[in-house]
Amino acid sequence: MEAEMREWCVALPKVELHAHLNGSVRDSTLLELAKQLGDRGVIVFEDVKDVIMKNGRSLPECFKLFDLFHILTTDHDTVTRITKEVVGDFAAENVVYLEIRTTPKNNEAKGMTKRSYMNAVLKGLKAVEDVDAVLFDSILRPDETLSRTPVGDLDGVTKKKKIYVRLLLSIDRRETTSAALDTVNLAMEMKDQGVVGIDLSGNPVVGEWETYLPALEHAKELGIPITIHCGEVPNRKEIQAVLDFCPQRLGHVCCLNDEEWKKLKSSMIPVEICLTSNVMTGGAPSLELHHFADLYNAKHPLSLCTDDSGLFSTSLSNEYYLVASTFSLSKAELFRLAQGAVEFAFVDDEVKKFLRAVFEHVARKGLMP
Ligand code: IMP
Ligand code: ZN
Repeated sequence: MEAEMREWCVALPKVELHAHLNGSVRDSTLLELAKQLGDRGVIVFEDVKDVIMKNGRSLPECFKLFDLFHILTTDHDTVTRITKEVVGDFAAENVVYLEIRTTPKNNEAKGMTKRSYMNAVLKGLKAVEDVDAVLFDSILRPDETLSRTPVGDLDGVTKKKKIYVRLLLSIDRRETTSAALDTVNLAMEMKDQGVVGIDLSGNPVVGEWETYLPALEHAKELGIPITIHCGEVPNRKEIQAVLDFCPQRLGHVCCLNDEEWKKLKSSMIPVEICLTSNVMTGGAPSLELHHFADLYNAKHPLSLCTDDSGLFSTSLSNEYYLVASTFSLSKAELFRLAQGAVEFAFVDDEVKKFLRAVFEHVARKGLMP
């Protein structure tokens, strides 16, 4: 029964709206990169190996780990490699639309600028081979689109899987106002290259809302959609400010008090729910007590997401499975949840039309209940 449900969750076409590039890297790749740096004497492989393989991480431990990940991954070729792998991994589990977010990085020692970092990401997207990644510059063909989504697999036709990929640029909370503004301007510059939005993320106990506000307001003025990590820690002043700012989407919304909760619900701002991430980092006390249930019962717009599939050893299929097994959602309810997420994507209507068609096709053919 459990195995059948897990399989069904993998087969379900899914939409991923909250995945950090460097948090979604496979353990095996991180270990390989660590081994190479160990051999070159840059790090001590044995120490790093244990950190990578450790399960169950607190919030501060996660951010220490990200610093390590960035040592391992931040050169152009590696950024290209991880991008290619991450897209392939999501497509393999039938994610049909992926919004991947990443923090453009300046790294003088590697001759890296925010722009060259993003060029390396774009190169990775174009290098995806095992699946058909539909990027910003692809021509959409409706017949092909339907035949090469997971629908093709469910029909018993084995064809290359198709995944639509778009990018969000993250502002790291450690950044200055000027660096945050650079990221927004870069997002604008790359609008025709698949960048569809801005994210605010990073260690929630670092930095001040006022530092990023000018950049977020600039993005708003430019008409760039924004998603914000909200309420990972109980920072009342900031939660209030974020809700007042009214971004297009919110991530997490863990530590809201009654009043903020009311405000969120009346705002109808779609929420990116990351169950495993929240439980592992202490934002939610347990799966059973996760705020997903309250928002779902209130019919609040939601999408299930992984946050950092590599870091938390999860997958989007697993997140759907967890919702089913913890909150007793039926397959029909899971299907509607996945289908509903299309509406919260930052992508243009043309692509949304194709994504809606994928779900309608699956439902019409009775491939999913
Ligand atoms: P990157 O932007 O591709 O380097 O992905 C890793 C980065 O995403 C981290 O350094 C954080 O800034 C951000 N990030 C990943 N997971 C979380 C989270 O749970 N909360 C806040 N920020 C996060
Ligand atoms: Zn996140």
